[in-house]
Amino acid sequence: MTDKRLQLRAVNFVAVNLPSGKYAVSIGAGLLAGVGGELRKLSGSAKAAIVTDSHVGAIHLSALESSLKAAGFEVMCATIPAGEQHKTMAMLLPVYDQFLSGKIERSTPILALGGGVIGDMAGFLAATILRGVPFVQVPTTLLAMVDASIGGKTGVDHAQGKNLIGAFHQPIGVFADPRTLATLPEGQIQSGLAECIKHDLIRDGNAFAGLNAVIERVLKMDMEAVSELVAHNVTIKARVVEADPFEKGERAHLNLGHTFGHAIESVSRYSYSHGQSVALGMCAAAYVSQKLGYDVDREQIVATIRKAGLPTGGVTLDPNRVFEAMQFDKKVKGGRIRLVLLESIGKAVVRDDVAATLILEGIESLR
Ligand SMILES: NC(=O)c1ccc[n+]([C@@H]2O[C@H](COP(=O)([O-])OP(=O)(O)OC[C@H]3O[C@@H](n4cnc5c(N)ncnc54)[C@H](O)[C@@H]3O)[C@@H](O)[C@H]2O)c1
Ligand SMILES: [Zn+2]
Repeated sequence: MTDKRLQLRAVNFVAVNLPSGKYAVSIGAGLLAGVGGELRKLSGSAKAAIVTDSHVGAIHLSALESSLKAAGFEVMCATIPAGEQHKTMAMLLPVYDQFLSGKIERSTPILALGGGVIGDMAGFLAATILRGVPFVQVPTTLLAMVDASIGGKTGVDHAQGKNLIGAFHQPIGVFADPRTLATLPEGQIQSGLAECIKHDLIRDGNAFAGLNAVIERVLKMDMEAVSELVAHNVTIKARVVEADPFEKGERAHLNLGHTFGHAIESVSRYSYSHGQSVALGMCAAAYVSQKLGYDVDREQIVATIRKAGLPTGGVTLDPNRVFEAMQFDKKVKGGRIRLVLLESIGKAVVRDDVAATLILEGIESLR
């Protein structure tokens, strides 16, 4: 009993208020074992269905499954092979078969246990099976905790590109247990940190000023620091999504570093991970912002990105090819590259009138 109270006291809650409903993101070390009890408060369903991947399932599925069973849920589990290459409709079809055979009902919650790949896939499944069932996120990567699990974007990749098939489907609850991050593969914490750096750059200059110290503690897996970082970043992402649930305006600020970044990812044939590419993209955006006369110190931004163990230069890709790839980005409108830049640290601005030569210079600054 004492243990349980201690555990609950350590939980942070961030409310997300959207036109489609309101839900809470709960963050707490050890929370995984309490998800069943928490979900019981949200759902009277007799059944629950978990989707996970082969890596995460092997480590964390039994804790989640036991917790759901202890709360009286009859549990179905589906495991998808780990990795972005499996984020496809073809991998999801057998899961529809399995859950329909298992007599999933309109009230049965589907839980995503994993990183952003599983969150997006399970969310799309939940949005579409029986025309929509309740969805619950149990993110297990830093990126999924601070970014992918908030905002309701779900989907799968198509041969013609990433995330081309999907739906908006908000979860009824998000349960993030920072302790699950201890088993992450090399480089995954850094990937998540890239999005955290982005959040402070677009919304919170004060937090950015203290970020180097936070990063140092997080890289040592100091659980208190990790929990605080997750709560802070969930709050930023939630506020942005609340202001623009369907990505018609200011949600675009979340693309800081991403227009350059997606191009770097694709030209490098993914030898730079998403987080590494976004890190480089933020350095290029900082360069362009400074050149345009905004109040931005590129070196300060570079230093924080470097502190997180992310790349800030040394790129040997052909800058012209990166520039060409930027013109294929989804966010290009009417042939103009729309760039998210910084007016100052903590304040983003969208510009679609930046000279091609300056964009190219930004890419060249990554050498
Ligand atoms: N919906 C959104 O708003 C949104 C936002 C950003 C990214 N995304 C999507 O998220 C995906 C990337 O997510 P990701 O970076 O979390 O990648 P991921 O889901 O592929 O996870 C990375 C790797 O870590 C493993 N893993 C995850 N948690 C683990 C744990 N606790 N212990 C051990 N291994 C673990 C996974 O099996 C995988 O191999 C992309 O597909 C991207 O499109 C979606
Ligand atoms: Zn990103």
